[in-house]
Amino acid sequence: MRSVITVFTAFFAFSIVLPKAIPAARAADEQPDMKLLEKGRIAWLTVAGIGCAGCHGRFGEGDVGVGPYNRGVELSKVQAAIATVDQMRVVRGKLDPQEIEAVAAYVAWLGRHQLVKTLVKRDRFDPNAVDIHPGTPVQLAINNSGVSPRKFAAPNMNVAEFEIPGRTVHDFVWRAPEQEGTYTLRCIDCGAQGQEFTINVRRGAKPYAGPEKPERKEAR
Ligand code: HEC
Repeated sequence: MRSVITVFTAFFAFSIVLPKAIPAARAADEQPDMKLLEKGRIAWLTVAGIGCAGCHGRFGEGDVGVGPYNRGVELSKVQAAIATVDQMRVVRGKLDPQEIEAVAAYVAWLGRHQLVKTLVKRDRFDPNAVDIHPGTPVQLAINNSGVSPRKFAAPNMNVAEFEIPGRTVHDFVWRAPEQEGTYTLRCIDCGAQGQEFTINVRRGAKPYAGPEKPERKEAR
């Protein structure tokens, strides 16, 4: 629970640091209702002792193999799923309508960010690089799979130094700048020198299409 709040605090602090860099048109989605999202995130991780995360993946990415990918799914679908999906009866009646709205707000928020995951294993990043389209809001999730804590720094990403305890996933939001460039997250105390995760912000990178299905997007 504590790390959940820490991550949100980090995100919140970060969004205060950056506003000048954010175009006015994007201001609205940069100022989400943090209380609502935090409530939603806690429910997402903990409801009925399993959390939505237990079946849909910690980040709604569907990697658990039970529930589907559902980043960006809208409120009505969340309400319908909770009310009718048979496999979800464990969560039925566990959330009041406000909590369901909070969870849906969190799911919608997830969908506005491109999820980028990297695993730190034996002091190496896997993968160790990713291409990102300029201006993309990224949710970067770093899984420290080792038993010992590790410290990370990313001075050119405008992110303060942070530590991830052993066997812990830490995530934060980072918006790729509009101009191309190379951004580096470095593991400061990993055994081998110079362990880095590189984010190449390039116009040639695939733009984040958002949660919609490609067919639906073309129809708009
Ligand atoms: C015990 C496992 C389990 C849990 C816990 C669970 N789900 Fe699901 N969920 C599923 C499965 C399995 C499906 C797919 C059902 C199908 O395809 O018929 C599903 C489907 C859905 C769908 C509809 C599919 C889509 O993407 O439109 C939504 C939305 C959804 N779940 C949201 C949630 C939310 C929000 C929570 C937490 C409050 C949650 N689920 C908790 C297993 C789970």
